[in-house]
Amino acid sequence: MVNALSDEVLQAAQALARGELIGLPTETVYGLAADALNPTAVNAIFQTKGRPANHPLIVHVADASLVPVFASEVPAFAQRLMTACWPGPLTVILKRHAGVADAAAGGHATIALRCPAHPMAQAVLRAAMSLGVQGVAAPSANVFGHVSPTTAAHVRESFPELLVLDGGACAVGIESTIVDCNRDVPVLLRPGMQSVSQLSAASGVSVLNAFEASAIQTPAAPGTLASHYAPRARVRLMTIEMMRAHLHTPKLPIALWARTALPSVEQPALPEGVKHFPMPSDAAACAHDLFAQLRSMDALGVHEIWIETPPDGEAWAGVRDRLQRAAA
Ligand code: TXA
Ligand code: MG
Repeated sequence: MVNALSDEVLQAAQALARGELIGLPTETVYGLAADALNPTAVNAIFQTKGRPANHPLIVHVADASLVPVFASEVPAFAQRLMTACWPGPLTVILKRHAGVADAAAGGHATIALRCPAHPMAQAVLRAAMSLGVQGVAAPSANVFGHVSPTTAAHVRESFPELLVLDGGACAVGIESTIVDCNRDVPVLLRPGMQSVSQLSAASGVSVLNAFEASAIQTPAAPGTLASHYAPRARVRLMTIEMMRAHLHTPKLPIALWARTALPSVEQPALPEGVKHFPMPSDAAACAHDLFAQLRSMDALGVHEIWIETPPDGEAWAGVRDRLQRAAA
């Protein structure tokens, strides 16, 4: 099919094949993408993002048939996970062929692989594959440590010179779930929108979270830092009671992102300089809005961003993880 869309996709694929970087929409967040098997191109990702070269990158593939290009071993439970969740927001860590994608792997003996579901990502990966690009390394397209991008405009704000494909607002909104499949049992390294129960059902074995696994063996989550996704303003996670109790003392202006309405019988109106944004009460909707909401509250120039502590329960694990890092 020849149309404006496929022209754009072809240009992006050609840029990848030439060893250039592009901004790639995926269903989770936008990626800063380059040919995973071209070390010069991969090094340009690290430089552009300001990311330490030993923080490994995720390699994106068009489908599971490309896994053996990068991975030397695929346990049965990993195979089942990929069959159940690909294409989609799941990354698996597998043993890597020595000498393949060294730069993307940041020197680690393993490789992170993901097959994205976004139609534009799929189209670019397929077009690039026909030009000899077998996998595309892509971290989130933000400056290291800052808020991840969920629109093409977010990517352009950070990297104005970059060729960015516009695939709309990301449907999922937080990064892929990462499962380490490089040990005897699968270990959750980064929570996303699939819960541990869903992953366990899909893999046919109990997926451990990194906390449980550390009792058995030290899980490797290189580049997973306590502080991440940080806007300029200080981010605080608070219960609604804490917010109400402190409303009249803070350094104004502040922005609140809360599921619960702030005004109460005792306190019918919010003080001037306090702006409340409604937080979705559904975990998927909250994930979808999370990074864009952090960015827009930060753009108001507020001193602090107060966020209502997310509910307990595994559906909220991905959102809790991102908010805790933003507040760290
Ligand atoms: O949703 C996503 O995964 C997005 C989109 C663009 O696909 N990408 C993304 O990449 O979040 P990034 O670089 O921001 O996060 C990659 C994380 C690293 O921080 C690291 O924890 C983990 O993946 N990782 C990559 N390779 C690994 C490896 N060999 N072993 C363990 N963890 C690895
Ligand atoms: Mg990132």
